[in-house]
Amino acid sequence: MTALRQLFVTTALPYANGTFHIGHIMEYIQADIWVRYQRMRGHAVNFVCADDAHGAPIMIAAEKAGQTPEQFVAGIAAGRKQYLDGFLISHDNWHSTHSAENVEISQAIYRDLKAAGLIEARTIEQFFDPQKGMFLPDRFIKGVCPRCHAQDQYGDNCEACGAVYAPTELIEPYSVLTGARPELKTSEHFFFKLSDPRCVAYLQEWTQDGRLQPEVANKVREWFDLDENGSPKLGDWDISRDAPYFGIEIPDAPGKYFYVWLDAPIGYLASLKNLLAKQGKDYDAYLAQPGLEQYHFIGKDIITFHTLFWPAMLKFSGRKPPDNIFVHGFLTVNNGEKMSKSRGTGLDPLKYLHLGMNPEWLRYYLAAKLSARNEDIDFNADDFMLRVNADLIGKYVNIASRAAGFINKRFGGHLGEVSPDGDGLLTHLRDALPTVTQLYEQREFGKATREVMQLADRVNEYVDANKPWELAKHSGMDARLHDVCTTCIEAFRILTIYLAPILPRLATEVARFIMRPPESFDDVLTPLGRGARIGEYRHLMQRVDAKQLDALFELPEPAPSAPHAAETPVADAPGGEPLAPVIGIDDFAKIDLRIARIVDCQAVVGSTKLLRLSLDAGERDAGGQPRLRNVFSGIASAYQPGDLKGKLTVLVANLAPRKMKFGLSEGMVLAASHGDEKTHPGIYVLEPTAGAQPGMRVR
Ligand code: 2FM
Ligand code: ZN
Repeated sequence: MTALRQLFVTTALPYANGTFHIGHIMEYIQADIWVRYQRMRGHAVNFVCADDAHGAPIMIAAEKAGQTPEQFVAGIAAGRKQYLDGFLISHDNWHSTHSAENVEISQAIYRDLKAAGLIEARTIEQFFDPQKGMFLPDRFIKGVCPRCHAQDQYGDNCEACGAVYAPTELIEPYSVLTGARPELKTSEHFFFKLSDPRCVAYLQEWTQDGRLQPEVANKVREWFDLDENGSPKLGDWDISRDAPYFGIEIPDAPGKYFYVWLDAPIGYLASLKNLLAKQGKDYDAYLAQPGLEQYHFIGKDIITFHTLFWPAMLKFSGRKPPDNIFVHGFLTVNNGEKMSKSRGTGLDPLKYLHLGMNPEWLRYYLAAKLSARNEDIDFNADDFMLRVNADLIGKYVNIASRAAGFINKRFGGHLGEVSPDGDGLLTHLRDALPTVTQLYEQREFGKATREVMQLADRVNEYVDANKPWELAKHSGMDARLHDVCTTCIEAFRILTIYLAPILPRLATEVARFIMRPPESFDDVLTPLGRGARIGEYRHLMQRVDAKQLDALFELPEPAPSAPHAAETPVADAPGGEPLAPVIGIDDFAKIDLRIARIVDCQAVVGSTKLLRLSLDAGERDAGGQPRLRNVFSGIASAYQPGDLKGKLTVLVANLAPRKMKFGLSEGMVLAASHGDEKTHPGIYVLEPTAGAQPGMRVR
């Protein structure tokens, strides 16, 4: 048995401003599988999370809801359990960054960084909303772009032309909160001096020594490139915010608060401390253990905070830095709808549970798709049904149902001898132990499930070759029937242990039936043995019904609408409308369709229908800079602003520009919809298959 490891594992702290979406659940399932695997290896794990409660957006959301921020985040916290229990997530603790522990640790870390000479006070000029009486974050200021004069651009960059600027450069700036014209005011801010040579050297080593996933290390490497002044791009980090702010006060600096991203990862430690206190254990002693390993599971959008700021905060405050950061990609649903943080639609996890869908189906399906790489994965309804019904149930669960009845009915529930052919099969299954465990350790869950399914295939070949249902019909074949069914039960027990990190509830159910709890992977090596008693077999898992998936993705009932005019018989037409008159290829060639990347996508203030897209169709301006197109698209009913960012689509590139109330629209993107939107709501923006590049013509 390997030496006992001490592991401290976390999932990213979700903002306490909304319920979980499927992206959160995917991360929790990924981490939970790894943690359960570690526990089954005999290692000691503290697996924690917490609500990320602070920051201006939460303060403002609370105000809008007519609540104090404390009430607001408490309301969000109260809704967490049903998701976590529902998907069998085994965090040892769920805490909050708005907690005594977090105040204490954040202030201590700050003091230690200050003592190390890494905190610097600087006076900066910032926009202030005089009506609201608060300094405005860049995203709460809008105005006219100083370069292209597009309206309603955010304070940090222009979506229409791509210019990057300071909010102070905006023409006619206004506060998003009140509409007031912001005033420039000076304020003292505190900076964490990440540009200090000590930090740069440390982080360069920490991020590039091979511990990080290669694609993550590559992405982070850019921060060490030199800028035009010859210093690394990694600049000092502004860690303070002025009152009013919902956060933690900075010691000896009245009216100053830590920026939410300073105290958020410290919330990992706060949750750990809270857990250890409940167990009567000493936090400092726990962290001082020389062999303690610390891992954080996170999404690819928060890499910088976790691979640069966080290790530096810990290291230079004299604390233990993380051992590694495990980064996963985003989850798309049914080919492409990105599950962004800001929305809860698509695959609604609570709806999944309320429909009575089995959480272990999702755990298995996601495990089958997950690897150790930082790559996006897609939830596809048909694929989901196939993998669960054909693999999980068809190959694995059925092994037990094929054998258990005979053992109970014919042999009084007792196992018999295993003959050499069965033993050969079981040896093959046991020999896979190092491979399976290694794949779990490496977070290669997709490979692990494939390995186990291949083993299940071998067991099913054995069953098909021996046909217990035939043996049962012939008198004189009892001993062989007993032997074959005993082999099947033992094989099923081994496969159950292999799948237990993914299917913990099913494993518990199997333990009841075989009368031995699968507590450790090493149990694989200790067979139940002749004479062992098994319990009554109850069916272990239902198959997915297509109707459940239909219900899961069903759109809310459309409002009843007036029937169509009698002369539009569109009901039978494809997509609800008759084909347009025939055209020649020359007519088609007049339309110049190009691949374009959606560099940004924003809501349009004053319009519920439009989104403003900023598109890169591979064009350059006279100075060789990328020229972005501004396109207004009537797709706001189907997409949230964040959803489309980064995706490729198809642009009608030679459509005459059109002046609209909100600005100039320079083209059109292609999207599909039914001829009758009222009865068939839904708009689907076109996306090319992988490999297409901005600027390529579509013909
Ligand atoms: O991006 C987010 O959702 C943040 N709330 C994650 C914080 S992770 C950790 F640093 F707290
Ligand atoms: Zn602009």
